[in-house]
Amino acid sequence: MYPTYVSRAVRRDVDQIFYLVNEAFQIETGNEGIAYRSGEKYHLKDQTRKHIADMLVLRDHKQILGVIKSSFHNGTCDIGLIAVHPEHQGMGYGAKLMEAAETRNKASRFTVGLASCRSDVIPFFEKRGYKQLVEKPIEEMRKLYPEDLAEKFVSRDDICWTIFVKKNSVCENGDEDDGYQYNAQRE
Ligand SMILES: CC(C)(COP(=O)(O)OP(=O)(O)OC[C@H]1O[C@@H](n2cnc3c(N)ncnc32)[C@H](O)[C@@H]1OP(=O)(O)O)[C@@H](O)C(=O)NCCC(=O)NCCS
Repeated sequence: MYPTYVSRAVRRDVDQIFYLVNEAFQIETGNEGIAYRSGEKYHLKDQTRKHIADMLVLRDHKQILGVIKSSFHNGTCDIGLIAVHPEHQGMGYGAKLMEAAETRNKASRFTVGLASCRSDVIPFFEKRGYKQLVEKPIEEMRKLYPEDLAEKFVSRDDICWTIFVKKNSVCENGDEDDGYQYNAQRE
């Protein structure tokens, strides 16, 4: 058995990440319960390719077991996506990826956006110190991910887009102000 380690994603990882993400997010396809999308997370490999520079992967020799995408804007690190292959969930890999993304970025705070129906995964983030900041209409999600992810293929309108925030306890600016302005107009 090979030791697992986290490293930056590279272009040759696109195929594996594409299939892993779509498999892990299969639970979101549908229109009831925790599901809210009419299609897969990634429709095209090109969408995955565009995200590669922002991704870290957890590797076990040549196999990718998990991936996290984070981007940094004005002191805030946004966790855009985290996925662990369904066969390897519950083994601490998600926590390992979060740890890597959070320590990699010298952010004063971290954010993650989740559809309010994803009650299954909210505890994962709460356990790591994330707290609900604001609920936005689901339309907001389409603005945040205009062409990128399949978020524009939302299959229901009885849900919200919830932003969770965590202050960076090791960052000297981490507790300066609580007035984080959630900005939907990111590139
Ligand atoms: C969410 C996800 C990344 C978690 O990865 P994972 O490897 O299974 O999580 P871990 O094993 O590292 O769990 C870390 C901790 O969170 C807890 N946890 C994990 N998933 C949980 C869940 N769904 N509900 C409650 N707690 C959960 C674990 O019990 C563990 O707690 P502990 O530290 O007290 O033991 C994984 O379930 C996944 O890929 N889900 C599908 C994609 C997704 O929904 N991503 C999130 C939205 S972007």
